[in-house]
Amino acid sequence: MSVAKPLPHDAAALHVTGKARYVDDIPTPPGTLHLAFGLSSVANGRITAINLDAVRAAPGVVLVLEAKDLPGDCDCSPSNHDEPLLAGHTVNYVGQQVFLVAATSHLAARRAARLARITYQERDAILSIDDAMAADDRFEDGPRIWSRGDAGAAIDSAKNVIEGSLTMGGQEHFYLESQAAMALPQDDGEVVVHSSTQHPTEIQHKVAHALGLPMHSVRVETRRMGGGFGGKESQGNALAISCALVARMTGRPVKMRYDRDDDMTITGKRHDFRIDYRVGFDDGGVIAGVEFLHLTRAGWSMDLTLPVADRAMLHADNAYFIPAMRIESHRLRTNMQSATAYRGFGGPQGMLGIERVLDHVAYAVGRDPLEVRKANYYAEAPVAEAGGPSAPPSPPEDISGQKKVQTTHYGQPVEDFELGAMTAALEASCDYATRRAAVRKWNAENSVLKKGIALTPVKFGISFTLTHLNQAGALVHVYQDGSIRMNHGGTEMGQGLFQKVAQVAASRFGVPMAVVKITATDTGKVPNTSATAASSGSDLNGMAVKIACDTIRDRMAGYLAQQYQCSPADVRFKDGSVQLGSQSISFAEAAALCYGGRVSLSATGFYKTPKVEWDRIKGQGRPFYYFAYGVSCSEVVVDTLTGEYRILRADVLHDCGSSLNPALDVGQVEGAYVQGAGWLTTEELLWDDKGRLRTHAPSTYKIPACSDRPDVFTVALWDGRNRENTIYRSKAVGEPPFMHGISVLMALSDAVGSCGTAYPDLDAPATPERVLAAIERVRHV
Ligand code: MTE
Ligand code: MOS
Repeated sequence: MSVAKPLPHDAAALHVTGKARYVDDIPTPPGTLHLAFGLSSVANGRITAINLDAVRAAPGVVLVLEAKDLPGDCDCSPSNHDEPLLAGHTVNYVGQQVFLVAATSHLAARRAARLARITYQERDAILSIDDAMAADDRFEDGPRIWSRGDAGAAIDSAKNVIEGSLTMGGQEHFYLESQAAMALPQDDGEVVVHSSTQHPTEIQHKVAHALGLPMHSVRVETRRMGGGFGGKESQGNALAISCALVARMTGRPVKMRYDRDDDMTITGKRHDFRIDYRVGFDDGGVIAGVEFLHLTRAGWSMDLTLPVADRAMLHADNAYFIPAMRIESHRLRTNMQSATAYRGFGGPQGMLGIERVLDHVAYAVGRDPLEVRKANYYAEAPVAEAGGPSAPPSPPEDISGQKKVQTTHYGQPVEDFELGAMTAALEASCDYATRRAAVRKWNAENSVLKKGIALTPVKFGISFTLTHLNQAGALVHVYQDGSIRMNHGGTEMGQGLFQKVAQVAASRFGVPMAVVKITATDTGKVPNTSATAASSGSDLNGMAVKIACDTIRDRMAGYLAQQYQCSPADVRFKDGSVQLGSQSISFAEAAALCYGGRVSLSATGFYKTPKVEWDRIKGQGRPFYYFAYGVSCSEVVVDTLTGEYRILRADVLHDCGSSLNPALDVGQVEGAYVQGAGWLTTEELLWDDKGRLRTHAPSTYKIPACSDRPDVFTVALWDGRNRENTIYRSKAVGEPPFMHGISVLMALSDAVGSCGTAYPDLDAPATPERVLAAIERVRHV
């Protein structure tokens, strides 16, 4: 069976030889036009005059559009209808699209776009959290507040109380392939759009809306992205709409891609947060109550801010049972790029809040932070018996000595908690206790280089919190020669989704992988899809494909059983052949026979996630089908003279359930750890006091390089099965391991703490400058 095999990414050879085709590699038909945006240079203001004569006169320019030239309502927002394709009178951030240039080449369009003369009446820009709070400039009417119990009272009556505050930066997605789209006009007003998007249906919907067409007249195709990381859930809308619009107006093919600076200047990034906390606990560090204040800068438009900020609240417990909790979340409007989805979708920010609390509490009680973490863990879920994880979890019990199934602050029972056992396993395999003692000894003996170590857990909820998005469709064809072509609504961005789903299809038919063809995502084949996001790609599309395959297989089995006079139950699809009682024919022969017998060899599949239901206003319900778990241990060394540091060693143990493909899953975990570490260490976004993003190129924005990965880097997968009935009992893997980066920040905090007595309240990103400043603080307090 192909499932569970560590097969390489299906396009690995194409990726490394440069032959994999991305949108910009699709050969362009003659006469193709290229687009570029002219951008606002002020963060908040009114356009008083706009002179585009020089733009229009520039070489190669064919068409220039301002807001007033747009035929209809060209909105780009995925949520709130608050993102006009081109700014009309008002501009809301530096980088907002003001006009659109179509020219005969990419360079000609870009050059022309710079020749505009626009004058603005500037207004004070709202840039900081404090500005926005003072101006009460926000999305939704007021803060969203969820609570369990009376957190204030629980804290006030606790033996110890501390408070603190943590800021964490945003993050640029830095997908290797920047945003890109191409539109090809068809007859009768139809259009085909190629888009580098995680959400082809959204592109179809927005293009159809802008052009005033029914969705049936717009077909969107996405073969692959060169990375998305959440940055291609909504941020591709503007390019696709522009291309389709100009294609409609000129009758010519149209293409647009952002160069790196434009991409970084125009598109949204991870939401940055400030989290204030107050926590009450006993002398062992066991927490009685926590109050959190979440403040996030959402940028100029709503985009996906509400579900992102909700997910931060949903992960404010991480792995810990907090008896009383109150979270107040403010989603603030600022004159900046509109912050958007980014791997973890707010989860990392919320989780970092509680991890900081645990670290601070451990410091206050003078215990090893790992011991304090474990003392606050959720109760281990009752272990599944020999019957397997499919057996329903035992009912909660407190009298029999068995621990009760505890619920989260939003009321979901934690029925599959694995972190007790996983933590014990990682502690042993990475030799945590011995190494922590060695770090302590090293720090006592060395004054310049200080080491730090931390072991932190991840518990991440799997499902879209907008419940209706948890659905997927598939279309599978078996051809008369026995080859199989498969389509589903998921998109490929490097994560290996297509290979995993192809493994499912091959396994259902018992055929070798070469028999299954992986094809581009296409809104004409599978309609009404959700974004490939929330890590749910293989959960949803794997199931939809399985259902479609099984439909065809059952039809084949029924017909063949008749022909070979055996029972359909005795027809077995295995090793490329079909066994019929005592006889055996090849799968290709079986397909040909079924075709000859007029059996339909094509089927759709549809899947919706069971059990999920959620009230986001009350903050109550079961938003997640299940949780994915992981633990990681990072050891760092810090140069206390410069603040520079290295990750010496990282050990990760991650839960992918019964992995569909351990090679791809390990790759996801490794990449996510490094990306998570980048978020919390070197990746710093800086805006000046005019709201201009100063770090808009790799020269100033530092993503981790190969040489920044840990010197020793061990990733292992936890040997478990999903207790819920997911595709082959696997678990989603895309986002959860991102939060292993938190162990790096906590290890840095540990190293800094060894320099003095005060708590090292290290903010993120912990750039060398911030580390140095924190060292100075703990030394001089
Ligand atoms: N891995 C690679 N190589 N490239 C990506 O863009 N995106 C991440 C994750 N892993 C990403 C990635 C994000 S944000 C998500 S939500 C998931 O992949 C989406 O894919 P999946 O649902 O198939 O896991
Ligand atoms: Mo991922 S942030 O859900 O695209």
